[in-house]
Amino acid sequence: MFARRTGSAYEVLAPAKLNLHLSILCRRDDGFHELETIMAPVSLNDRLAYSPANGDGAGFRFSCRNVASGLPAPPQGDDNLAYRALLCLAAEAGIPPRGDFQLEKRIPAAAGLGGGSSDAAAALMLANRVWGIHYPASRLADMAAALGSDVPFFLAGGAAVCRGRGEQITPLPNATSLPVVIVKPNAGVSTPAAFAALNMPPKTTRPSESLSARLAAAACAVLAADWGALSTAATNALQNAAERLCPAIARIRRAFERLDVPAHCMTGSGSAYFAICRSARHARRIAALVRAQNLGMVFASATCR
Ligand code: C5P
Repeated sequence: MFARRTGSAYEVLAPAKLNLHLSILCRRDDGFHELETIMAPVSLNDRLAYSPANGDGAGFRFSCRNVASGLPAPPQGDDNLAYRALLCLAAEAGIPPRGDFQLEKRIPAAAGLGGGSSDAAAALMLANRVWGIHYPASRLADMAAALGSDVPFFLAGGAAVCRGRGEQITPLPNATSLPVVIVKPNAGVSTPAAFAALNMPPKTTRPSESLSARLAAAACAVLAADWGALSTAATNALQNAAERLCPAIARIRRAFERLDVPAHCMTGSGSAYFAICRSARHARRIAALVRAQNLGMVFASATCR
């Protein structure tokens, strides 16, 4: 994630993400679940633009609109995580927020694609620069974690192993780009509802500090783009619970089971589902086959750095 400058205006592309693997270790005392997941950004982006306010430069405006069809009305005001990120950063720095921020949405919501979290990371990164705050990455990461479990991943950029509640990031800088097809059914899944549906008993023992063998194998599969190992690694511990909440996810899974793809599973808490393909051409062909089945919005994309 980086800011592109044109004169006094800036823009940041905020990517969606896929969970290429997701295990849940336990439910913690604070109600969050301890995770081991591998996330990779994908080239399906929202866009956050900034221009200085007119006149004396003191004004502040934030707007959010959809630029893709088929998306529900985007969250406005305090319901918008990017807006909240801007207010948090201004409060932390002790300055009034200023400038004109325009957020254009392409990433479907309630999908497990991290759109809101990515927007919040983009807002922190951009405002830190254009407001001349220049906090170091570690300080922004603390603010990101307070905004949401996935926000630090987007701030760090690139594929990563994520642990804790998702905020402890180990980058995988050499991850290969994987062609993917993503399907988002019309119905969404609420993240708290998906975790609650797991019905996990609380556990007080701390998970081990070292990577589990399963997570290490999944990370190796991603780094090597090893199709056989990816098909074992691409699992999501939230998938059964999410399928019970949203039967459309199971329909997409069954559609991919009938197709020739190396690996497929749900991302995050759903409802979006993805398949890993062997090439961009293969992804376009699979996307056309899935599109014909009217399962929802279909994107042929790829994981990116
Ligand atoms: O951190 P975030 O605001 O995205 O989390 C939304 C909700 O998802 C939490 O309130 C919690 O119910 C659930 N969650 C969880 N364990 C995680 C991440 C999220 O239980 N690791």
